[in-house]
Amino acid sequence: MKFFIDTANLAEIKEAYDLGILDGVTTNPSLMAKEGITGAENILNHYVAICNIVDGPVSAEVIATDFEGMVREGEQLAALHKNIVVKIPMILEGIKAIKYFASKGIRTNCTLIFSAGQALLAAKAGATYISPFLGRLDDVSTDGIQLIQQIRVIYDNYAFDTEILAASVRHPMHIIHCAEIGADVMTGPLSAIKALAKHPLTDLGLQQFLADYAKGNK
Ligand code: G3P
Repeated sequence: MKFFIDTANLAEIKEAYDLGILDGVTTNPSLMAKEGITGAENILNHYVAICNIVDGPVSAEVIATDFEGMVREGEQLAALHKNIVVKIPMILEGIKAIKYFASKGIRTNCTLIFSAGQALLAAKAGATYISPFLGRLDDVSTDGIQLIQQIRVIYDNYAFDTEILAASVRHPMHIIHCAEIGADVMTGPLSAIKALAKHPLTDLGLQQFLADYAKGNK
């Protein structure tokens, strides 16, 4: 399972990368705004800064919602760095754009996936990744994990190459459930990834080992 981090914060990306387990980064316009990155040029420069930290796919989202606009923006983003994956919203114009980018060998991440039908359509168009928003489904009392499970079955039935990138991950149990059902990738906050390492028995055990060593080596 690949681990992506869902942030535009360079310090967090660096911290995750230094852990040695980071495979890629996803961003979205809200995450860029959260870091105070505004204006076309600053945004493009920020993507390059992210790509220079991580040796893996970096999703950069288009703002246009029409085919021509998405193609224009997507080509500009893809030209920035070899790591860029063009993030396209799940709308019909987006499906056309994904098909276009697939024919040009440009990788895409179809975002805002909330149903199996959307996931099927994006795979048909040749999306490299699809991003089902697990946490946002859970927020509205709908089982996000069940959706990912359903998409896994559909993709396996037809051997689609499209990777399931479980997004809107909020906590470590989301990551574990995604791993159990075979999501290809997960993206979430660094806090959820770091929480995987935590167990009180590990802390207690380590404390005891160190205390016993200290007793014998006074
Ligand atoms: O990048 C898309 C997705 O991961 C958003 O997550 O937490 O805003 O629902 P969240």
